Amino acid sequence: MSLINARILGTGSYLPEGLLTNADLEQRIETTDAWIVERTGIRERHVAAEGQFTSDLAVEAAKAALLSANMDANDIKLIVLATTTPDRVFPSVACLVQGKLGITNGCPAMDVQAVCSGFIYALSTANAFIRSGQVKTALVIGAETLTRITDYNDRGNCMLWGDGAGAVVLGASEEEGIISTHLHADGRHEEMLYVEGGGTRGIGEPAYMRMQGNGVFKMAVNTLDAIVDETLAANELQKSDLDWLVPHQANKRIIDATARKLDMSMDRVILTVGEHGNTSAASVPLALDTGVKDGRIKRGELILMEAFGGGFTWGSALVRF
Ligand code: COA
Repeated sequence: MSLINARILGTGSYLPEGLLTNADLEQRIETTDAWIVERTGIRERHVAAEGQFTSDLAVEAAKAALLSANMDANDIKLIVLATTTPDRVFPSVACLVQGKLGITNGCPAMDVQAVCSGFIYALSTANAFIRSGQVKTALVIGAETLTRITDYNDRGNCMLWGDGAGAVVLGASEEEGIISTHLHADGRHEEMLYVEGGGTRGIGEPAYMRMQGNGVFKMAVNTLDAIVDETLAANELQKSDLDWLVPHQANKRIIDATARKLDMSMDRVILTVGEHGNTSAASVPLALDTGVKDGRIKRGELILMEAFGGGFTWGSALVRF
């Protein structure tokens, strides 16, 4: 096994200024703040401004992560960006970000599409590049403008989604960093969570997310249960060895279920869904940066990140911070 580890050198995030509260939704659809809070834990979400796209949010998060790692943009030797709401079909958002950050060293840049599991997939990809010795540094970003593909007439769905971006800078290190990653997919359930319109099947049609909420909920809880077991078993760890759960922020009830499974009290869980909503690929790095910046997550602590999303895809990363 390689002695090179990928260590998180810095974290950053960005939330656009615009806010959509449950009170705002009460004006647009037949719903109540109490219903949304009880079923999802969400109170408000951030919304990108007109003319502000996924790459713009990603660049702000990346700059913050570079600052916290004390690195220049041109020190980065790989960009892996997870999104399901790219500015354009191509170029990739990763390439747009490379250009906007002024990176001229020719480093590879690519998008990863695994919907809400995107950041875990991207982290795992960058980890493999570093561990195999191909690069010494990487910028890993999750960024979304999901409100652009949200149908605000669909009351069973539209209260979930928000915009934002999070990023980490990884560096090759002999110290422990990303310990293991675990990725899975099951492509048999397209009709349960997908975007109608857009893509080559629906050019010119409005692109809106469609979801069978109940079915997705059950699938998410079951797969996350399993991946938590898989991650602990692969590393011969006990639940009590974990310091922090940094989960995908889809729904507070899903997060509660994973925390119960891990016998973790909620003060060991970074919870941002109430203020961010579900920001898909951005949610895990946004939650990580929140916990790091407010001083809860400290160097040397053991973090379990996990996510579930469209595809279906799911994954986890065990990280010594
Ligand atoms: N406000 C008020 N009532 C609403 C509502 C809203 N925004 N949306 C739906 N309802 C109603 C439904 O019409 C239904 O009424 P009925 O019983 O009279 O038919 C009732 O609430 C229950 O609907 P249901 O869809 O069964 O609700 P639910 O408890 O499953 O909650 C979700 C809906 C979307 C919150 C829930 O299914 C969920 O969180 N799913 C997972 C979503 C997710 O995390 N997806 C992303 C994965 S990455």
